[in-house]
Amino acid sequence: MITTEQTIRTFLEFFRERGHELTPGESLVPPPGDPVLFTTSGMHPLTPYLAGRPHPLGRRLTNLQRCLRTTDLDEVGDDTHLTVFEMLGSWSLGDYEGPQSLRWGHELLCDGFGIDRERLHVTVFGGDEHVGPDHESWDTWDELGVPVEPTVHENWWSNGPTGLCGPDSEIFVWTGLDSPRGTPTIDDRWVEVWNHVMMRYVRHSDGSLEPLTRPGVDTGLGLERLVRILQDKQSVFEIDLFQPWSTTLPRLWGSLDESSTRLLSDHMRSSIVVLGDGIVPSTSGRGHVLRRLIRRTLTTLWRDDPTRTLSDLPIEPIEHTLEHFRQERHPHDVRTTLLDEERRFGRLLQRGRQMLSRNRFRRSLSEDDYRYLYDTHGLPRDLVMYLNAEDFSK
Ligand code: ALA
Repeated sequence: MITTEQTIRTFLEFFRERGHELTPGESLVPPPGDPVLFTTSGMHPLTPYLAGRPHPLGRRLTNLQRCLRTTDLDEVGDDTHLTVFEMLGSWSLGDYEGPQSLRWGHELLCDGFGIDRERLHVTVFGGDEHVGPDHESWDTWDELGVPVEPTVHENWWSNGPTGLCGPDSEIFVWTGLDSPRGTPTIDDRWVEVWNHVMMRYVRHSDGSLEPLTRPGVDTGLGLERLVRILQDKQSVFEIDLFQPWSTTLPRLWGSLDESSTRLLSDHMRSSIVVLGDGIVPSTSGRGHVLRRLIRRTLTTLWRDDPTRTLSDLPIEPIEHTLEHFRQERHPHDVRTTLLDEERRFGRLLQRGRQMLSRNRFRRSLSEDDYRYLYDTHGLPRDLVMYLNAEDFSK
């Protein structure tokens, strides 16, 4: 069985053999001046180079980049979504064009990783009122014998409301037990693994599209999703990379159900990576995202048993995570911050319970109540709602 580490090596080697230079993966914190809170895609640190600035390593690049997406937070716990995940990427900075990238993608998936050709389906941009269909990609897939489904909105990639954008072509792999059927938009057993973006335009704030003088290609392949397929597992949580979590959590907190175990594995691992990149819990920005991850971990843990504590967590999964992400923060420091945050949250909950037991709050709360509880007592709305639900269930 191919391991996660072997999967990474196979991908990067494939592109290096085809003239791509390896760039170091960067932190989850984007470079200064970048408007996003976290790196959400492998192209992020390369934005200026995709826009035209010459890259010191040339016009073909490849790497592995850690990413964090909070847009998928509510989907965490299904078979494919993670908060922190890794993206294997390849880039043409104004060098080769989309069809070459798609052919290499097909070759690597089928010949390099041994995925059966019959299990592939792709989507391409079908055109809208501004930009015509992506015929080049469509023809390339036809030549390769891969079924194509055109869409409009799902096959237009952009880095935000303004900035780099273009049509994309997504590669899906069939994960059903029986033979492939339907198409990616109607059957979610087609799992998206690799997106190839034909980076052709810059969108301006008035909505207009300006063609890039040097169009490029930006691809991103979801590492954990691919490994799940290669290791023939039902979800990303069962792959080798998650083993420290899947063995530790049931031992510590045996009675957890499957969806709580998945959420805990994802949120604890993500919190460790965010801490590993030097972020600390706080009330705004990145620190707030981190705080939400830790608090969701704790409310999930405490839901059926308030005596559970992060101090039960052994150091190994923390070490393993920091090591995998090549982060230098000391595992004991990370653990200390998690425990500090647990104490702080425990105190806040206690204060909240006392407050909400007052007669004034033993009825449905008004907007003024929520404002007062937050401004005067530091109790955020979601926490008050959590405590009210807790009270109700007793
Ligand atoms: N930037 C593209 C994505 O994130 C590859 O899907």
